[in-house]
Amino acid sequence: MKSKFKVFILLLFLTGVSLFIRTHFNLTVWFHSLQQSPCACEKCLSEDKLLLMQSFTSSVDPFLSVNYNLSEDAFNWWKRLQNERRSFSTYKTTVERLFQMFPPTPDLTEPSPDCCRTCAVVGNSVNLKRSHYGPLIDFHDVVIRMNFGRINGYEEDVGTRTTHRVMYPESAVDLDNTTHLVLFPFKIQDLEWLIMAFTTGFTGKSYAAVKSKVQANKDLVMVVNPAFMRYVHDIWLDKKGEYPSTGFMALVLALHICDQVRVFGFGADSDGNWSHYWEKLKNKKLRTGQHPGQHEYHIIQQLAEEQKIHFFTGH
Ligand code: C5P
Repeated sequence: MKSKFKVFILLLFLTGVSLFIRTHFNLTVWFHSLQQSPCACEKCLSEDKLLLMQSFTSSVDPFLSVNYNLSEDAFNWWKRLQNERRSFSTYKTTVERLFQMFPPTPDLTEPSPDCCRTCAVVGNSVNLKRSHYGPLIDFHDVVIRMNFGRINGYEEDVGTRTTHRVMYPESAVDLDNTTHLVLFPFKIQDLEWLIMAFTTGFTGKSYAAVKSKVQANKDLVMVVNPAFMRYVHDIWLDKKGEYPSTGFMALVLALHICDQVRVFGFGADSDGNWSHYWEKLKNKKLRTGQHPGQHEYHIIQQLAEEQKIHFFTGH
């Protein structure tokens, strides 16, 4: 009887120990999963509840992909930007042709607890002159430059690396084989330009001169989603101005593809004009074009104050 009792106690003890180990192990896994950050930075943008609630909730895919269907409503918003007269079905067939040539999905690095994706967004402001930001800019995983932004002769202030260059046909420049061409389309002709610039050459007309051919790596082409442009205008800029500047859209794009964002080269000169770091301003009445420049600047400052981005205001 005594030995039966002993065996019973032993079994009870072993069951207790195994239960403890299982529960404890599960709890540890659970605790770790709670602690695990979505990225390896000190702070990840995707963890920022306020940013998520304010803007990301109504966000859309930043880039077009082969299976993405733009809504007619978004198309109708987009077509007024540069007075597009052609139909939604022409837009759709042009996009179909686009993806017969270019990557069906954008080349993006997914978030991971093991890495910290850093982005430098480099606008073209004159305030980059004598800033000495070059080495800091080059330090980022992703360096986004825009339009005609020069490098040669300005390395000390703007750096040397470009992983992504945002452009539209009227602001296109040739790229090296490692740089992503990020097209901001403002009309159907811009999508056609992309196809022709890599094949037959473009012969159409626009409000400014357009490069007939562009030198770039076809496999690194990405096209910004018109619905994303609308989202930036409606949600981030509260529908102010005609439409957002390329630079501001690039900044919001960076918030979506990086865990940490540093911003350089944004801000008008002392007369309120968007002058560039590589040239003397010709049109003194430029201001910020049709874009809500002051409002954009205010939002950038606010993002910096709330420590969502690091904003380098230059010289
Ligand atoms: O002049 P550009 O459009 O090529 O400049 C790229 C972007 O840099 C602009 O869309 C704007 O957002 C930003 N910019 C700025 N201040 C300047 C010049 C440009 O904020 N003085």
